[in-house]
Amino acid sequence: MKAVTPIIALLATAEATCGIPSTGTTKLREEAGKKGILIGSGAINPTYLDDPRFAAVLAEQFNSLSPENELKWSFIHPTEGSFTWETIDRLVDFAEAHGMMVKGHGLISSCCNPDYLLSITDPTAFRAAMAAHFEAVMHRYEGRVDRWDVVTEALKTQGGGLQANDFYNVLGPSYVEEAFRIARAAVPDAKLFISDNLVESLPGKRQDLYDLVSGLVANSVPIDGVALQMHITEVPPTPGVITDMVNAYRELGLEVAISEMDVHTLNTTLQADIYGAVISEALSAGITDITFWGFTDKHAYTWLPGAKPLLFDENYRAKAAFYATHTALTDFVRAP
Ligand code: G3I
Repeated sequence: MKAVTPIIALLATAEATCGIPSTGTTKLREEAGKKGILIGSGAINPTYLDDPRFAAVLAEQFNSLSPENELKWSFIHPTEGSFTWETIDRLVDFAEAHGMMVKGHGLISSCCNPDYLLSITDPTAFRAAMAAHFEAVMHRYEGRVDRWDVVTEALKTQGGGLQANDFYNVLGPSYVEEAFRIARAAVPDAKLFISDNLVESLPGKRQDLYDLVSGLVANSVPIDGVALQMHITEVPPTPGVITDMVNAYRELGLEVAISEMDVHTLNTTLQADIYGAVISEALSAGITDITFWGFTDKHAYTWLPGAKPLLFDENYRAKAAFYATHTALTDFVRAP
């Protein structure tokens, strides 16, 4: 009979005990925690917590979470004055029970706005609806959600200025500024972010975002940071671009976070390399808040047929992308 090595025996025991495959490494949150870094999973639909293995890996590996769609307007506030609090309550309770932070995602998004809002065409009434929505949602989670994506995807997908979303159509470009002012007044202690995609790969859009944000800062709009979504498809950002963005926004007094990272490709080696390179550069540049758009391919959102963009496979086994991320975290030495 073959001898079972102690390490294999140990891994098998871990699997049998908690029902999830062992990674054979320390936890991501353990490594991140030592260095003061938030390592999170976004795209958490609270119903996924019904799966004990999903809940176990989430709580074990991450020290932050954010919802997928459930905080977007039509989900949490489908008809005027009526809220579906139980979904987000469940997520926040879960986070607190496991020592995790919560990021609010979806106050203003390019999708998911209810008919009652869309029927308002008078700017004053629309503004009042926006303030009522922000106040209700942000007050409910005051002190429990530490940071918010206030405006998501203000810019046209390929760049070229603000996109004409439901807010722009009624309030014009000032809706961005108004959203931040309402949010700060509602919860003065939470960090407020503007979140956008593709800026790491499209120079023109990168400049658009900088112009927008520097204009907000010049107008004393209360904004704390820029959230780079970092949805990558096949091609990694050019080395140095993330660092340049962090430095540019730091000069404006703002922080930069990664808020929705995933890597869409059929090439798992390339995927791991991209995860490793991006996380490594982000940490060296001074980013301390990194969130992925989910963590298991079981619940992945992708536009590339067949792509499995996340760190764990559908059965919660760590992929090469996980190990590349883990190595980037362990290798990182934070400047004193
Ligand atoms: O809830 C309806 C359901 O009633 C209906 O039957 C069904 C039919 O298609 O649609 C359901 O809504 C879907 C919703 O997700 C909830 O499942 C929408 O069609 C679908 O478009 C929506 O997709 C979400 C997408 O944002 C909307 O733009 C994704 O789940 C979500 O992961 C994605 O997340 C965005 C971030 O918020 C912002 N950044 C980009 C990111 C996508 O990578």
